[in-house]
Amino acid sequence: MRLSARISYNKQVFIDCKREIIPVQGINLSLLGLKIKDHDRINDCNHEDVVIMMELDEQISLRGKVIRGESNECVVFFKEGPELISSTVGKYLTSKIYESGKCPFCSRKINKNEKYCKKCGMFLDYTKPEVVRFIQDFKVGKVFYDLLEEHPEEFGEKLEKHREFIGVSEEMKKIFDLIRKYATNDYPVLIIGETGTGKELTAKAIHERSKRADKPFVVVNCAAIPDNLLEAELFGYEKGAFTDAYKRKIGRIEFADGGTLFLDEIGDMPLKMQAKLLRFLEDLSFTRIGGNEMIYANVRIIAATNVDLAEAVREGKFREDLYYRLNVLTIHIPPLRERHEDILVLAKYFLNKYSREIGKNIKGFSPKAEEALMNYSWPGNVRELINVIRKAVVLTENSMISEMDLDLKKDNMQEYYRVSPSSLNLRENIEKLEKNLLKQAFIISGGNISKMARLLGISRPKVYSLIEKYKLGEVVS
Ligand SMILES: Nc1ncnc2c1ncn2[C@@H]1O[C@H](COP(=O)(O)OP(=O)(O)O)[C@@H](O)[C@H]1O
Ligand SMILES: [Mg+2]
Repeated sequence: MRLSARISYNKQVFIDCKREIIPVQGINLSLLGLKIKDHDRINDCNHEDVVIMMELDEQISLRGKVIRGESNECVVFFKEGPELISSTVGKYLTSKIYESGKCPFCSRKINKNEKYCKKCGMFLDYTKPEVVRFIQDFKVGKVFYDLLEEHPEEFGEKLEKHREFIGVSEEMKKIFDLIRKYATNDYPVLIIGETGTGKELTAKAIHERSKRADKPFVVVNCAAIPDNLLEAELFGYEKGAFTDAYKRKIGRIEFADGGTLFLDEIGDMPLKMQAKLLRFLEDLSFTRIGGNEMIYANVRIIAATNVDLAEAVREGKFREDLYYRLNVLTIHIPPLRERHEDILVLAKYFLNKYSREIGKNIKGFSPKAEEALMNYSWPGNVRELINVIRKAVVLTENSMISEMDLDLKKDNMQEYYRVSPSSLNLRENIEKLEKNLLKQAFIISGGNISKMARLLGISRPKVYSLIEKYKLGEVVS
């Protein structure tokens, strides 16, 4: 699925990276970025923010980021806002499309005043910031559908290696924003969310973007380690500290030196251990069990919980002082059923990934299957969704995943979750629903305006005006 038109752009461009101007050859151009010919000196710019100077109607400069693919291709992804992109790249792209006289998606002949193609229904006019914003919105979480489809290995791998996060909902965009902000400092972070919502993924994402990225990320699952072993696990012990201590053991805190210590399920930590952890957090120093040497550990603490810690404090199960100590920066990850827009995006991403992995050519989900995915309440959140998709990919004998393949349990939760809005204001809720359905239609149709109109049961101009009305999504680069 390609979200925006791509036109060939065989011109020389200049990339300003680390104060060096590198001339490279452009290949093609879209609203999201520019593909350039591989160049040795571009190596140094990998994942760097750069300024790119190029000739459109006139000479322009845009900010971007260089991403290098496995097949030795480079793309500069534009980081500019929709206003600037629509007035420069969008204007150029649109004029080239009309000049060519045919739709860049289906090659049908087009007229100058067609905003979208009458045959395939794709956008033709990219001069409006709303349209650009709408399209850019779907690259949030670095899910570039078009690139995923055209260079599966290249981008599939990138997503893995960098543990890219997927999400298009407002909630996830706020979380991406917090991850970036929290990565710049060393304060403790508390991540709250149901199981399978991505707490560990969030912790890793903060670590990987922080200055500690090349140091260890150490996980301690406080619920999985028996109470009497937790202290030894965390702090380590000296030889002879107790009967079975035949040699010195280095604890996880020491292992994490310079890096990040992720304390998962902190709500399950026994009270005695909480006191010891608090003491450690005071000045980040400790002694191994049975030892005297004061050891300083340079670690950042990220803790996660699926229980309401404030409630646990009220019930006397969690120390109030430790709660305040950990609760400096928080991230609340909503359950998947509360961010409907993410469901199909995640489902399609994992369908693509697993069918590639086992070499099946599965095209997508049947409309009924999509409906079932959207209506299910996902008590196990993203982890459950991944398992469901993986199983369906293995079991299906068709090129489309059906509702049967998904084998979702019927549940009664959905009705409850559906009618629990924060306000009962009718207009507000109708607008919310309208915006939500519009986004879903966009995901299902792959940005095809005619299909969106058909799915939504409205005219194509109405789709266009709704996109303008909601100025969908803010761009997160
Ligand atoms: N937004 C997301 N995009 C991609 N994968 C996700 C996302 N959220 C969760 N996952 C995946 O779902 C699984 C469960 O996530 P995890 O971070 O272990 O959840 P938690 O710690 O909250 O139980 C992992 O495989 C993780 O990579
Ligand atoms: Mg977890």
